[in-house]
Amino acid sequence: MKASAPGKIILFGEHAVVYGRPALAAPVTQIHAEAEVSDSAQAGIWIDAPNVELHAELNTLAPDDPLATVIHNLFFQLGIDPFPSLKISIRSTIPVASGLGSGASVSVALIRACSGHLGHELTDEEVNAFAYEIEKLHHGTPSGIDNTVVTYAKPVYFIKGRPIEIFRVGRPFTIVIGDTGISAPTKESVRDVRKLWDADREKWEGVFDRVGEIAAKAKTLIENGTWPELGPLMSQNHTLLQEMTVSSPEIDKLVKAAEKSGALGAKLSGGGRGGNVIALVEPERTEAVANTLKESGAQRVIITMIE
Ligand code: MEV
Repeated sequence: MKASAPGKIILFGEHAVVYGRPALAAPVTQIHAEAEVSDSAQAGIWIDAPNVELHAELNTLAPDDPLATVIHNLFFQLGIDPFPSLKISIRSTIPVASGLGSGASVSVALIRACSGHLGHELTDEEVNAFAYEIEKLHHGTPSGIDNTVVTYAKPVYFIKGRPIEIFRVGRPFTIVIGDTGISAPTKESVRDVRKLWDADREKWEGVFDRVGEIAAKAKTLIENGTWPELGPLMSQNHTLLQEMTVSSPEIDKLVKAAEKSGALGAKLSGGGRGGNVIALVEPERTEAVANTLKESGAQRVIITMIE
């Protein structure tokens, strides 16, 4: 049984989404995680995950190992006892800790492949709820946006705790993604924003409100197909993320370079501090912006369509 899940970008609203404001996210199908589960002649559950240099039997892993946690929790929930002998192979082309949803994507692929192989087909809603529990174990206070966009593989307008809303893209548009190459766990930037918020809730609630307004406005523009107007909103959102201290010199360098080379707007995407920036481009500027990002230090560039 094989299953896969895409990467993702946050178009608008990261961090503020943790505090109940709306955010927009979209799948990135050029990158994905894949899990394959089969019966094993050898006793035990053998996991092969070369991306994280893991080749081991489940029981030899630390209890808080991310992959072991998914398997233990899933089997417990599905009432699988005793554990069958299995071979589980996990492959991912999504860079780790770069804001592209690698953790959520691996969880979703693994949940689908394991449950499918064991004859417990889960609905998307169940997969999503399960992946959210895993995100909570690893990320403290996640909003749930990563697991949602990755599970449904559709653009989502997300408000924490509300039913999922898939949004319509009036006219597809192009995004260039540039990787700073710096890995930065989302958990840490989320924790640091919480510290700021704890110290001055009134101020930060105001900042989150502004981010939420941008995300709500962006949704309308996307639905109406007037995406070129998203550019200034991206730049405004980026300024607010800088205020939250989640940008970095490397991110700002890529954002500026993208804007200088003709992008309509650019911002960091995801947890920040490293990871990826996204730039909105007119189709004819795509190559120029992609090349400038590379010249300005991007370790890798992905061109994706939001549709
Ligand atoms: C991470 O992709 C988005 C954050 O807002 C965290 C979260 O929503 O859980 C930074």
